[in-house]
Amino acid sequence: MSKVQGAQKKNISSGTASGGDFLKVTNIETLYDKITALKGISVSVEKGSIVTILGANGAGKTTVLKTIMGLLEDQPEKGKIIFDGKSIERKKAENLVSLGISYVPEGREVFPELTVKENLKMGSYTRKDKKGITEDYERMIGYFPVLGERKRQLAGTLSGGEQQMLAIARGLMSRPKLLMLDEPSLGLAPILVGEIFDIIKEINKEGVTILLVEQNANLALQIADYGYVLETGRIVLSNTCKKLMENEDVKEFYLGVVKEDSVKGFKRYKRKKRWR
Ligand SMILES: Nc1ncnc2c1ncn2[C@@H]1O[C@H](COP(=O)(O)OP(=O)(O)OP(=O)(O)O)[C@@H](O)[C@H]1O
Ligand SMILES: [Mg+2]
Repeated sequence: MSKVQGAQKKNISSGTASGGDFLKVTNIETLYDKITALKGISVSVEKGSIVTILGANGAGKTTVLKTIMGLLEDQPEKGKIIFDGKSIERKKAENLVSLGISYVPEGREVFPELTVKENLKMGSYTRKDKKGITEDYERMIGYFPVLGERKRQLAGTLSGGEQQMLAIARGLMSRPKLLMLDEPSLGLAPILVGEIFDIIKEINKEGVTILLVEQNANLALQIADYGYVLETGRIVLSNTCKKLMENEDVKEFYLGVVKEDSVKGFKRYKRKKRWR
């Protein structure tokens, strides 16, 4: 077991062919035309854990998830991605859903012209087990009762928070082994953010491994086991979340804790520059 995995707070037996890492991203480089957005990123996710990727605007967080999910044509340019013992780099998104990966993009993408129930059914399009789909539909309503109350409502008429819940629930309808979430808290009222994070924890307890990209470092570090800090396409820091929370740079730039001896104006300026 690697140092990284050994340091994770949960003791989970993974038993995957890739030597314990459920998802192992090694040295990936991703280009948008000729611009290199990811400059050699390595990320490991142990089965059953929550791993978070933090970083400022434009650092490349979304690009990491899109590259894993096969959404960027002919990318990654270089590097390897192993999921559950299989090589998945450059595989198509629909094949990855069948393998057990689900991706909830940033911006609560739902089908606005479909009802809540229809949106949820769309999430299960790769499955054929009708009974299981119905069970999972009921389970989603259990997690998010408001979706049950609004099952006949068009998704486009839901509030922002409800749309985020629907996007997550739809992501779960494929019964994923790995759920990748891109900024689930973005633009939501704190009370809703708390609710969504409680559900993410619950989903994880039920056995779904989670890779979470978040702008809310405080929350992400509280629920995740391990974290990576991304800056302009490179990992600059990685550790257990407990250790990251104690790290002076993380405290200063990501958790908004100002050191007593710092030149306040300068630090604030830097924080603003590096964090939404
Ligand atoms: N479709 C695209 N074409 C060209 N460049 C892109 C494209 N999408 C992203 N980029 C660039 O790649 C870099 C990484 O972007 P990415 O969206 O992955 O960052 P991010 O960390 O998710 O940022 P944010 O916090 O704003 O969501 C940025 O410099 C961005 O401008
Ligand atoms: Mg992003």
